[in-house]
Parts: sequence; C-alpha cells; structure tokens
Amino acid sequence: MESDIMIKAKGISEDFQINWKHQYVLADINFEIKKGEFVCIVGPSGCGKSTLLRIITGLERPTSGNINLASKKLAMVFQNFALFPWLTVEENIAFGLLMSGVERSKAEKIVKEQISAIGLSGVEKKHPKELSGGMRQRVGIARALAVDPEILLLDEPFSALDVFTAKKLRADLLSVWKSRGLTVLMVSHLVEEAVELSDRIIIMSTNPGKIKEIKPINLERPRNPRSESFYTLVDNIEGKIH
Ligand SMILES: Nc1ncnc2c1ncn2[C@@H]1O[C@H](COP(=O)(O)OP(=O)(O)O)[C@@H](O)[C@H]1O
Ligand SMILES: [Mg+2]
Repeated sequence: MESDIMIKAKGISEDFQINWKHQYVLADINFEIKKGEFVCIVGPSGCGKSTLLRIITGLERPTSGNINLASKKLAMVFQNFALFPWLTVEENIAFGLLMSGVERSKAEKIVKEQISAIGLSGVEKKHPKELSGGMRQRVGIARALAVDPEILLLDEPFSALDVFTAKKLRADLLSVWKSRGLTVLMVSHLVEEAVELSDRIIIMSTNPGKIKEIKPINLERPRNPRSESFYTLVDNIEGKIH
C-alpha cells in the first residue's frame, strides 16, 4: 500500500439473503483515505453506510472485495453511544484498555488523562443513565481515544444530540483530530455537518449502495456555515443525494 494511505477499500460488495431474496446492500465500493484526512460519508438512509463502517472495523465480512488498513490501531464511536450501563464512566473508558491487556495502573493513568481532556471531570463515578446524551457521547469518544487510535471511525455520532451539544462536540472532535493527527472516517446524515468537518465527502446513492461522487471540500478552516461558498456547497451536495 502507498505509504500515506491509511484506509483502502477495494471492490467492496455486500449482499444479504432476506426472505429467500438477495438484497444487494453495497456494490463495488472503492476509495482511499490518506493519513490525517477527515472524510465524511453521506447518503440516503439504508444505503449501507453503517454496513460499510462495520466492514472496515472487521465486525462484518464483505461478500467480496477487501479492506486494507495501514494501522491496526482503530476505534469506533456509535450513534447510540453503546456504553455498558452497569459500568461507571471511568470503567467504561478503561474497558477496552483492560481487554487489550494494558496493566491496571497504566489504564488508570490513561483514563484520568482522557477524562480531563474530553471534559468529563466530576462524573467519573457516575453511570451512563445519570448523564445527558452529550456527556454520554463524550464517554463514547473518550473510550475510543483511550486506546490511542490512529484511525477513528464514527457512525452518526451526533445525531441523537441537540444542536448546541452537537456543535460543541464537533468543535472538540476537530481539535482532537488536528492535535493527534488522526485519520477520521465519519458517517453523517447532515450535509452541513459533513461540509463543516471534511477534507472530502463520499456521497453515496442507494439500492444498491454505491459511491456517486467523492467531493473535495477546499474551504478554509475554521469554516463559516453562513458564508455563501459554504451553503452553495451544501445545496450542491444535497441536490446529489435527493
Ligand atoms: N445483518 C443484516 N442482515 C440483513 N440486512 C441487513 C443487515 N444489516 C443491514 N442490512 C440492510 O442493509 C441496508 C443498509 O443498512 P445500513 O448499513 O444500516 O444503512 P445506513 O447506515 O446507510 O442507513 C438496509 O436495507 C438494512 O436493512
Ligand atoms: Mg446507519
């Protein structure tokens, strides 16, 4: 693989057998993502975005094609947070570390760092049900970052949150991405969000899920969602989805 490519999807297809019928979910998906890039995937509901992320993480196997990852250090953030309800905030963040064999004392140190870095100080001993949606997703993000990933995958991480909380978390994600040099692949259902964050946007179409276009976003950062160039792009991309 070329040295600066972190994720390479080659000819990914996926079909499921439903009620004796073949349903083609993904058809011949090809893309490359460079180290340090922030890429969003947008497309209609049901076009296979979540399936594609699961295939990249290895949670699901494609019917054909393959994924090459330049690093095994990969973490995922989920829309519904996917926290363990019976564990405290600090135990949730420590979970993956302990599972991967990190010593308890080292894990505790990492968890402390994450808690202060991601804005969770004071709620370490609380359980997820005692937290707001925004704080729960902070735990989801802290847990993902605790394993020191090089590749971060996010599946509509902000869509269950109110607009103000989502805005704050987007800004925090951008600063983590920049400071850590992460490679980010994020599914979004909001074109505005994708244009605000991405270096490139993968636009998908449905039935079966295909890549319609990969669009570079060359706006300067920080981006102003009220600028004409910003919403011209948003309109343009929305027109391609609907
Ligand atoms: N394990 C599965 N078995 C059968 N069908 C599935 C499975 N997972 C996803 N699908 C179907 O694949 C399609 C794409 O789903 P998904 O990847 O969740 O789409 P998106 O995230 O873009 O909304 C949907 O029609 C869904 O019903
Ligand atoms: Mg989905």
